[in-house]
Amino acid sequence: MPSVRFFSGETVPLEMHKVRVVQKLTLPDIDTRLAAITAAGNNTFLLQNRDVFMDMLTDSGVNAMSDRQVAAMMVADDSYAGSATYTRLETRLREIFGMDWILPTHQGRACENILAQVLVTPGSIVPMNYHFTTTKAHIVLNGGRVEEIIHARGLEVTSDEPFKGDMDVAALERLVAEHGAERIAFVRVEAGTNLIGGQPVSLANLREVRAVCDRHGLTLVYDASLMADNLYFLKTREAACRDLSIREITRQIADLCDVIYFSARKLGCARGGAICVRDEALYNRMRGLVPLYEGFLTYGGMSVREIEALTVGLDETMDEDMISQGPQFIAYMVGELDRRGIPVITPAGGLGCHIDVMRFLDHVPQAQYSAGALASALYIASGVRGMERGTLSEQRAPDGTEPLANMELVRLAMPRRVFTLSQVKYAIDRIDWLWQNRRLVGGLTFVEEPEILRFFYGRLAPVSDWQQRLVAQFKADFGDSL
Ligand code: F0G
Repeated sequence: MPSVRFFSGETVPLEMHKVRVVQKLTLPDIDTRLAAITAAGNNTFLLQNRDVFMDMLTDSGVNAMSDRQVAAMMVADDSYAGSATYTRLETRLREIFGMDWILPTHQGRACENILAQVLVTPGSIVPMNYHFTTTKAHIVLNGGRVEEIIHARGLEVTSDEPFKGDMDVAALERLVAEHGAERIAFVRVEAGTNLIGGQPVSLANLREVRAVCDRHGLTLVYDASLMADNLYFLKTREAACRDLSIREITRQIADLCDVIYFSARKLGCARGGAICVRDEALYNRMRGLVPLYEGFLTYGGMSVREIEALTVGLDETMDEDMISQGPQFIAYMVGELDRRGIPVITPAGGLGCHIDVMRFLDHVPQAQYSAGALASALYIASGVRGMERGTLSEQRAPDGTEPLANMELVRLAMPRRVFTLSQVKYAIDRIDWLWQNRRLVGGLTFVEEPEILRFFYGRLAPVSDWQQRLVAQFKADFGDSL
């Protein structure tokens, strides 16, 4: 997708697709929005989608499909065993990644369950650039632990470092020296790196990680859920990839890995997942778990229609026009917010735009869930639904104390090919309004706090009448309008 420069001088991302099927949206007025977020306990997970104008909660399972994907769904071969639909997926994955052994699953975390059950033993360690919530949960459940060895540059909120997802390779060497290679269950690289803002991993870094794995006989597992964005960043930011096609870059990545798994809710714009394995013996160790947890080996819990859509979606991921739409819209949004002095994670990554709430609401203590408060305030001001990624998403310690998160973020995910640029401009404008009125926003406190995964189900209340004051200011500025 090209960025075009208008005659006026403005540069905008230009969509290389047209909209053929649409879904009606509504924008509830601000009183309705206040009532909806109050009913949802100030937790954006508990909002009803009918009350949401732009759903930027996640990019998972909500990407737009192409006409070719929808057409492929009509010719799916609905059989439990030996489905031609599955053979088509298997052929496509072999062609793209060059790995012979494929296991289908119903989504990304199901791959993680199988990998962890087979590779993680009590006391073992899984070094990785950065954890993802479900990955870590499965490793811990099987008695292992995660060692995050992201490069120090990765945690700097604002920078111009192009590959903030890179692993600290020296730290990986130190871990092996300290614990011995036999304690390392596997090494995991997540690219792009979800929880630090969809930040990419360079091919050069992956090559260095591979060299360490070779020296010590370690298995290298690549989480390709956010690989489409990562491929775009490799093509545009890494000199060694500039003259390679997306297909060639993909193959260079795959050739360095022993296992590639992914959530097809992100990669391939469908719903499902798969594990691709180089080694037949490892495949055989994992195979038995697929019928147990997922479904037979030729569907793995996915509907055949989704498998057809995924097979086409993976092929379309090799098209630079297709994979650049998300990162370019995100770059536009991050650039416009940054230009207004609004604190966001830079450089722009994949997945979405991430607001740095420690700076946005520097007057709200982390213990009052500042990122949760901003997500609530943003919904009130705009009908845009984001996701809290901060202290609220952490778990309270057994002694009741509250571990404060490294970062307080509101993630505004950019589902691929879903929003128009004018909708993105609307979100930017309302965030700007909120930034100008940020002193009106106060904290939240729990009224119902579940013991586990509290961010999904927990209910909170404002610590004061700050929401009423925010609504009054909005009406003063915009009239009684939307
Ligand atoms: N790995 C990464 C990097 C992910 O971002 C996700 C999901 C998973 C694994 C798990 O895949 O959801 O299909 O089971 N991320 C979603 C999100 C949930 O909203 O960022 P899944």
